[in-house]
Amino acid sequence: MVEKLYEGKAKILYPTNDAEILLTYFKDDATAFNAQKRGQIQGKGEINCTISAALFEWLETLGVPTHYIDRPTPDQMRVRAVKIIPIEVVVRNIAAGSLCKQTGLPEGKILPFPLVEFYLKNDELGDPLLTSDRLSILELATSEQIEQIKAMTLKINQHLSEFFDRCGITLVDFKLEFGLDSQQRLLLADEISPDTCRLWDKAESDPKARVLDKDRFRRDLGEIEGAYQRVQQRVLEQIARKGDW
Ligand code: TMP
Ligand code: ASP
Repeated sequence: MVEKLYEGKAKILYPTNDAEILLTYFKDDATAFNAQKRGQIQGKGEINCTISAALFEWLETLGVPTHYIDRPTPDQMRVRAVKIIPIEVVVRNIAAGSLCKQTGLPEGKILPFPLVEFYLKNDELGDPLLTSDRLSILELATSEQIEQIKAMTLKINQHLSEFFDRCGITLVDFKLEFGLDSQQRLLLADEISPDTCRLWDKAESDPKARVLDKDRFRRDLGEIEGAYQRVQQRVLEQIARKGDW
């Protein structure tokens, strides 16, 4: 067995015999609230890998550079090796989660523009929200790279919002990570899945029934596997229809 390079909360990274390529294994493990809550979601690894692969591949066709190469097995993804920029980029279209908790905005309020936020990717510090001055002082990326990240993020949000809308799902908010490859190219990395997005079923008005993402685990709403499976099915159906829109 190859020695792992890095193990995160939801994924394990393995080296390959090509230094430019890594293998990501998606785990069924689920954590929330900075790993204070732990559990397993049966089949999550395969589902998140499948959804992420499909979305990365589709975003590439729209000119968004990603780390994705291919998916040798349902729960493993080959990716270009990147140095992850330690920033969690969150985009919000609708108020939910920590935005409501910290500002008092009511859950479900449509925001006047997509809110892009930068959080420091540091579990020990609890991933704090960064101001733009803190971001500059930390020198996690150049100001040009930050501008590029913001522009890419807004473009991805436009594409993904339209995509999920066609799946009958509202893209409430989501988190992205970016990395630099050996040629210093900025690539979209990590994953895009029900672990990293808030996805609400458009056919459901009940605030609990509509939740199709990791909030089912965070908030003990039950039927987690079913929700993840539904997202996967709708994403794959929409990808299959891509010639039609
Ligand atoms: P938040 O409302 O808890 O700040 O989350 C915003 C979005 O970011 C939501 O779609 C879930 C996602 N997210 C992650 O992917 N990883 C995290 O560690 C956190 C806190 C949020
Ligand atoms: N992934 C994060 C954690 O476990 C938080 C979350 O997604 O809510 O800590």
